Amino acid sequence: MARKRQNRPRANAAAETGDNAPIYARIRDEFAAKIAAGKLKDGARLPTVRQLAKERSINPMTVARAYRELAERGFIIARAGSGSFVSRPGRAPANGRAPAADDLTLDPGGISSRLFELARAPGVIAFTGNYPSVEMSDAAAFAQCLQDSLSRGAAEYFRYDPPAGREELREALLPFLAQHGITTRADNLMVTSGGQQGMDIVARHLLARGDRVILEQPAYFGAINVVRAAGAVPIPLRFGANGFDLDEVAEAIRKHSPRLIIINPTFQNPTGHSVPLNQRRGLVALAHESGVPILEDDPGPELRFRGVALPPLRALPGGDEVVYYTRGFGKTFIPGVRLGFLLPPRGDLNACLEIKATTDLQSPALLQGALADYLRRTDWLGYLRRLCAGYGARQEKLYAILTGALSSYGHLSLPDGGLNLWLELPGEINAREVYFNAVRRGVAFAVADSFSFRPERPSALRIAFGLTDPKDYEEGASRLAHVLRNVVSPERSLSSAVV
Ligand SMILES: Cc1ncc(COP(=O)(O)O)c(C=O)c1O
Repeated sequence: MARKRQNRPRANAAAETGDNAPIYARIRDEFAAKIAAGKLKDGARLPTVRQLAKERSINPMTVARAYRELAERGFIIARAGSGSFVSRPGRAPANGRAPAADDLTLDPGGISSRLFELARAPGVIAFTGNYPSVEMSDAAAFAQCLQDSLSRGAAEYFRYDPPAGREELREALLPFLAQHGITTRADNLMVTSGGQQGMDIVARHLLARGDRVILEQPAYFGAINVVRAAGAVPIPLRFGANGFDLDEVAEAIRKHSPRLIIINPTFQNPTGHSVPLNQRRGLVALAHESGVPILEDDPGPELRFRGVALPPLRALPGGDEVVYYTRGFGKTFIPGVRLGFLLPPRGDLNACLEIKATTDLQSPALLQGALADYLRRTDWLGYLRRLCAGYGARQEKLYAILTGALSSYGHLSLPDGGLNLWLELPGEINAREVYFNAVRRGVAFAVADSFSFRPERPSALRIAFGLTDPKDYEEGASRLAHVLRNVVSPERSLSSAVV
């Protein structure tokens, strides 16, 4: 029986910059860009709220809001009575609101908004997008399907549908799933608003406040969010280049009696690592023995550049009894499409549909019709081959540049696919400190603590290259190397930093 939960994950705020953005957002971004580019130096004083408001003939409240947001994002500090100043790295703000490098934990709820903003801030080379750019993705083919669907007429798409989603889409998903070794029927599937909603539905279905959940560490912040929103307690499962340790899972099950295991087994976000086949089999076996189900979050297994494809846990023998499989189409096919699906274990669909109906009744019919069309009519396998060739070449290029520029500072891994690289820094370097200095220098990425549910000193960076122009790789790497060399650790000996 589904248990409804009141608390919901925080919504992501999209960046507001652009000509149509509100004035406060334009002022905020104008100053952020100047600070990031070094045009406004650390310690420089900003015009007072009154001065700037007068100069631009705008309301002082507008300027105050822009300054408040700059402070919240760590670009400036406000000192009562003396004004606003570009903040020096690592210094705490007088009003306690702006993040200081040493004491800020980038909460997972806030990190996605921050990454959006950074990805669009002028002058910043952003290694923050782990989904394909519009040019690289199949957005054009999808747009055509959307137009065709529209021309089929209003009667078809402008009406309410059942929460499970349109049958034409659930049918069209079957060959897609078969490609991944998953055989099922259309009436076992439900359409969701992206993989994120699939995860949320499963968490709300299974978890009550205080329940334990085994969750890989580090983990995708959207998974952390759903666990937090359910009031559940995460039990960390160490996750690295060789996957995880099955004995550790068995021990955690014995010790904590968890209600759920959450895993993103292929090209994991953030590390890019994948779980080897024997561990996949072992985990499904453990789920059977213990009765603890698995939530498999699998947003883009197709983005493989090397090596042999690994089957999803759901496709393994017995997977259909213990695995909730969820994914969206935004990470590999059509960025921003907000469509995905959830395939619950046998017999569990109705409880999940109840939650979907409670949340949003259904996902938009027109988009569903277009996606069904896309899966039926386009050569999406051909598209995937092109996508993998394009991004595989980009990954190799970026990896070569970054290893050249950064190898003395840490260990960079080269996953077999996905759009993230993971740079592990020596323990004495605080990645948060690197982050704030790097943003001021005009290069952005995500820090390990965005992928952690424990307050800890982060020592790794996620460098995502889905949206970054390859022409910027060299410059981005050199800005990051500069930060590591000169800003964070001028006195540290480089040789001692090699891992
Ligand atoms: C590992 C992982 N799972 C799920 C999602 C959510 O994907 P969707 O856009 O399909 O909701 C993301 C998005 O970043 C992700 O990285």
